[in-house]
Amino acid sequence: MDRSIRKWEHVQIALQTGQSGKNGLDDISFVPNSLPNISYVNTKLTTQLDVLELASPIIINGMTGGAVKTTTINQKLAILAKEKGLAMAVGSQMAALRDPALADSYTVVRRENPDGIIFANLGAEASVDQARRVVDMLEANALQIHLNVMQELLMTEGDRDFSGYLEQIAAIASNLSVPVIVKEVGFGMSRQTIRQLAEAGVSIVDVGGAGGTNFARIENKRSAKPLNMFDNWGLTTAQSLLEAGEVDGFRLTYIASGGIRHGLDAAKSLALGASAVGMAGAFLRLVQEESLEDCLRTIDEWHHQLRVAMTALGAATCAELRKVPLTIAGELAVWAKQRGIACHRYARRDL
Ligand code: FNR
Repeated sequence: MDRSIRKWEHVQIALQTGQSGKNGLDDISFVPNSLPNISYVNTKLTTQLDVLELASPIIINGMTGGAVKTTTINQKLAILAKEKGLAMAVGSQMAALRDPALADSYTVVRRENPDGIIFANLGAEASVDQARRVVDMLEANALQIHLNVMQELLMTEGDRDFSGYLEQIAAIASNLSVPVIVKEVGFGMSRQTIRQLAEAGVSIVDVGGAGGTNFARIENKRSAKPLNMFDNWGLTTAQSLLEAGEVDGFRLTYIASGGIRHGLDAAKSLALGASAVGMAGAFLRLVQEESLEDCLRTIDEWHHQLRVAMTALGAATCAELRKVPLTIAGELAVWAKQRGIACHRYARRDL
């Protein structure tokens, strides 16, 4: 199938299928603090991702490009990124490497936001040379490499051979002048995967958990022979963050993504160890359904919700939020016990 048609189908079906809301974060509760001893106006949203300093922990995650119709989406996203100081990723640039006429659907992002933090994007099948070219195409500040094995397997025209990925990621990480972010696309990551990535020299991991945009459902809707038994595959965003919390001994920073809905989801993700949160489906819906003014207002609301949580918890910075106590309940707690994760470590943080 023509790549451009596929890109547009992904946008349409992602909007139709929406987000399940089962990202696991509803099983997380903060331990309230009645004497936070800080002021709302002094809360700071700035955060650090490896060497990158972000003005906000909210990132517009990689989605699109590669079809003429997606240029408008990327343009609108780039305007939001610029106005609100958000880092932004584009979708896989493989389409532009194959057909340079499609480059404009990606480069529009840098044109709209010349000084912003922008992430290039490719799959793990990419070579070092391709990685360099997509970074150059956008003058990108980092490269996202996406892992999407289950999506490919459910796609009729998808890849079937995933050998050599880790070696390729290691080669890219050691040869690129910008940080490499490895991300899942909504199936989550285990501690084993994260450790392998860290050993390969990756410095930023986006856990890309289940609970938001569901690429098993999207591909099954596109397929003549759907494998719907795989619709619930993966680790949720909350489970993936707990897995990440078990990985010691590396200088890794984390992005939480997969079904992030609002500022409280962002606050819980940061408290579980993330330095930033990625939102894709929520931004796609916004730019497709709302005016630019309303989109900007919604981002302000998400920032406000995050600052309300920070103030109420006495965390003036994103880094401090990573130290506040929280409890883990329900299915997430049952699952964590099986994985040998000591939930009390999070609950007793300030004792
Ligand atoms: C995506 N996503 C994605 N990710 C990636 O690394 N490269 C890509 O090309 C795409 N393409 C893409 C298209 C569309 C239409 C959507 C909605 C998403 C995945 C995205 O970055 C994210 O990992 C998942 O969507 C889960 O996050 P949300 O949507 O639940 O916030």
